[in-house]
Amino acid sequence: MNPFEYRNGELHVEDVRLSQIADQVGTPTYVYSRQALLDVYQRYVDALGDHPGTVCYAVKANSNLAVLNLLAEAGAGFDIVSGGELERVLKAGGKPEKIIFSGVGKTRDEIRRALEVGIACFNVESISEIDHLAEVAAECSKIAPISLRVNPDVDAKTHPYISTGLKQNKFGIGIQVAEEAYLYANSLPSLSVKGIDCHIGSQLTDVSPLLEACDRLLELHDRLVQQGIAISHLDLGGGIGVVYRDETLPSIADYFAQVKEKFGDRQLAIFCEPGRSIAANAGVLLTHVEYLKMTRHKNFAVVDAAMNDLLRPALYQAWQNIQPVLQAADDAEVKSWDIVGPVCESADFLGHDRELALQEGDLLAVMSAGAYGFVMSSNYNTRGRAAEVMVSGSRFQVVRQRESFADMIRGESVFAG
Ligand code: LLP
Repeated sequence: MNPFEYRNGELHVEDVRLSQIADQVGTPTYVYSRQALLDVYQRYVDALGDHPGTVCYAVKANSNLAVLNLLAEAGAGFDIVSGGELERVLKAGGKPEKIIFSGVGKTRDEIRRALEVGIACFNVESISEIDHLAEVAAECSKIAPISLRVNPDVDAKTHPYISTGLKQNKFGIGIQVAEEAYLYANSLPSLSVKGIDCHIGSQLTDVSPLLEACDRLLELHDRLVQQGIAISHLDLGGGIGVVYRDETLPSIADYFAQVKEKFGDRQLAIFCEPGRSIAANAGVLLTHVEYLKMTRHKNFAVVDAAMNDLLRPALYQAWQNIQPVLQAADDAEVKSWDIVGPVCESADFLGHDRELALQEGDLLAVMSAGAYGFVMSSNYNTRGRAAEVMVSGSRFQVVRQRESFADMIRGESVFAG
C-alpha cells in the first residue's frame, strides 16, 4: 500500500489532505500513516508464517509512543538500544518478554533495569559486556538470557556509516573468536545462552550479504551444538532496505523463505529487528517554502525544515524525494532548486537539484521520512523539534506536540556564582 497519493491534484495521506494537517498543526511536521506501518509489520509476520520467532521492531527507527503502541497492540516485539527506549516500549504497552536489547555500550543501570522487567534477550557485543552482564545479573540474583552479536565479516554493500558487519566496525564479536566467547559465557552461572545474533547493516537492497551472514552463523551454530551449547534462536538483525528513489528490493517473503531453507532441520526460532522498512515509507516531513533565492549559480528554496529536523541528507548524502503537496499547473515554470533549511551550515540541505515549479508559501512533502527522521532531530540553532501526527483513514491526531522555547530550555539555568 502507498498511503501517499494525489487525489484531485492534492497529496493525501490515507484519506486526509496533507495541506489540512499543515493548516492545523503548522510546519515542519512529520506525518505517519497508521495503516502503512501495520502493513509492513504484517509482511514480516506473514513471512515468518508458522515458524517460531518474533518480529522485534527496531525502536531507534521511530520511537514515537503512538508508533510503538500501534505495533505493540499488533503483537510486535521490540529491539531496543538504550534504557530510554526500554521505558518508551513499556510505556507504550510493549511486553518485556518480547524485548531484546542490542547495542555496544549498555550501562550497568540499563542492564539492571532490563533484568528487573524481565526482557527476552540481551544481544551482547563484547567479552567485557559478558562480564558486566554476569556481574549485574548475579548481584540481582537473576539469570540473564543472552545472544552474542557476532560480527560475520560480510560486506553489506551499503553506505559506510550504516554498514556494521565488517571486521573494522565496532560492532559484535569477531566470528573467529565467537566460539571461545560462547564457551566462556556458557560457563558463567548467571548467564543463559539462548541465541546467536548479527546485524550487518541497514538499507540493504540485496539479500545475498544477509544470506552469507546467515550461513556463517549456522556454521557457528553447528560448532556450538557440538560443544554442547544449546541455541534456541537465530537473530538476523535489521530488515531489508526501502525504496527512496528507484531501488529494486527483494521481497521479505523470499528472504525469509531462503533463511528457513538454510535452517534445514535445525530447530531454531527466527528473531529479526526491522526498523526502516516498517517506518520509512509510512512517513513524510511537511515543510513550507519560506523564500526563493535565485543567484547566478543556483536557485535556492529556503524551507522551514532543516538538518536539525531531518539529518539524513547532511549525514549520509541521502536522497529523499521532495514533492509538492499541491500539484503545480501544467504551464507552471519548472526550475532546478536546492531545497535548503535556515540552519547556518552548508550541509543544511534536504535535496539538491530538484526539478520543481515553486512559489513562496508552497507546501512540500519530503518523502520516506518515517524512519530515522524525527528520532535523529536536534535543537541545533535553538530550533524546536517538529510536531508529529498520526493518520488513520480520515482522522488524524497530533502524537507529539511541537517543541516550544520553554521545552527547549527546561533544565537550563544561568550560573549563580
Ligand atoms: N538492529 C540493530 C542492532 C541495528 O543497529 C539496526 C540499525 C537495526 C536493527 C535496524 O535496521 P533497519 O531495519 O532499520 O535497517 N540512521 C541511519 C540508519 C542507522 C541504522 C542503525 N542500526 C539512516 O538514517 O540511514
